[in-house]
Amino acid sequence: MDELVALCKRRGFIFQSNEIYGGLQGLYDYGPLGVELKNNLKSSWWTSMVYDRDDVEGLDASILTHPDVLKFSGHEDTFTDPLVDCKSCGLRFREDQVPEHCKAEDLTEPREFNLMFKTNVGPVDDGSSYAYLRPETAQQIFTNFKNVVDSTSRTLPFGIAQIGKAFRNEITPRNFIFRVREFEQMELEFFVQPGTDDKWHKEWVKSRQEWWIAQGIHPSKITVLNITGDDLAHYSKSTVDLMYEFPHGLEELEGIANRTDFDLGSHSKNQKDLNIKSKTIENTSSNTKLAIQDLENKKFIVPYVIEPSAGVDRGILAILNEAFKIEKLDDGKERLVLSFKPHLAPIKAAIIPLKKNNNDLVSTAIQLKNNLQKLRLGRVVVENTGNIGKNYRKHDEIGTPICITIDFDTLEKNIVTIRNRDTMAQEKLDISKVPDYFKNLLLS
Ligand code: GAP
Repeated sequence: MDELVALCKRRGFIFQSNEIYGGLQGLYDYGPLGVELKNNLKSSWWTSMVYDRDDVEGLDASILTHPDVLKFSGHEDTFTDPLVDCKSCGLRFREDQVPEHCKAEDLTEPREFNLMFKTNVGPVDDGSSYAYLRPETAQQIFTNFKNVVDSTSRTLPFGIAQIGKAFRNEITPRNFIFRVREFEQMELEFFVQPGTDDKWHKEWVKSRQEWWIAQGIHPSKITVLNITGDDLAHYSKSTVDLMYEFPHGLEELEGIANRTDFDLGSHSKNQKDLNIKSKTIENTSSNTKLAIQDLENKKFIVPYVIEPSAGVDRGILAILNEAFKIEKLDDGKERLVLSFKPHLAPIKAAIIPLKKNNNDLVSTAIQLKNNLQKLRLGRVVVENTGNIGKNYRKHDEIGTPICITIDFDTLEKNIVTIRNRDTMAQEKLDISKVPDYFKNLLLS
């Protein structure tokens, strides 16, 4: 983990947030390469969830959330972690994360601590008008259910996907970007006919494992964990966690829950008319019926929901960990390489003119960069430092799949040299064939 954290800072992937003022715990900023990696991961998720399917719509809802949403969802009452104080060191910890140096006799009895951030809305700060920063993106998908159904004429089964920030006032943020206070989630709420929910749940567990493997996670590093008993969330009939071997241990990367009709049932008006199966609290505040009409018998039903919910930041940590390699070279030296899948690599290709002061080499490099950039397959850069060896090393470390050298053969014979990050093999190619080579690399 330490090596990964150091690399992330040195190369501009991830920085401690607010560092020049001493930092704020549990917050991180994504730098020039981190933002590209993150955007690529989110785009891969969105493509697979929304574009590659015909049964999912997208949403981008507000972060500030009406207190009633989080009252009826159960968050106000149950979104808590047990907190203990250590009377010896004066610090507070989550009950299951007390460090070894605190003795049991120094700890207070645990008390429940709500993890939601509350903030004032509007110009009056008397506590009467407040909202929460959403603790999960899911709830605003449920509150928009009727808007999406009415505007798209969707019938069951169908899903609503959303990527966005979530906030949790974690008692003990830890392990770099694994447990933080501000993070991003990629969540799908997939609405199905009651009775078909178990089948859909199984399908989503399988499909989500396949997706992570396609992002470069080795199948042997994923463990499928069935959550049982008290560990099940109050809304869940069954939950499967995809656990990943993070540098600090085996922990949750994504949860796939069968949330039944709890959420739509909880946020709906006229609950009594809807034959809701799960235990909800009476809702007299909602002005909307969150149900869908069965086209055959015209009765309203409250769909069951299958929810694959993944953390973007945990995904980034897993992908960085998976890609990070230190290789011994034939000459006894070592090289550090991030072997990202090409579609996730922050920079897709680096174009390197052999000499930085040669106008013909440099302008040919810029022209090739512009041609590749126009393909809209991700970021391409020109490296005009004149030191090919250093550039190869840098681009190995930041995971650029190919480096393309422009030399005098390019000017005389239109030939470039393409160097592969993983094999370090070099091949010659006519410059006119580079766009197809590049497309093949990124689209195959
Ligand atoms: N809507 C369901 C839900 O939010 P969750 O298991 O609490 O379920 C889903 O969170 C995912 O969000 C987790 O699998 C994890 O990847 C990510 N996540 C949760 N809390 C996090 C935190 N404090 N820091 C980073 N990621 C977090």
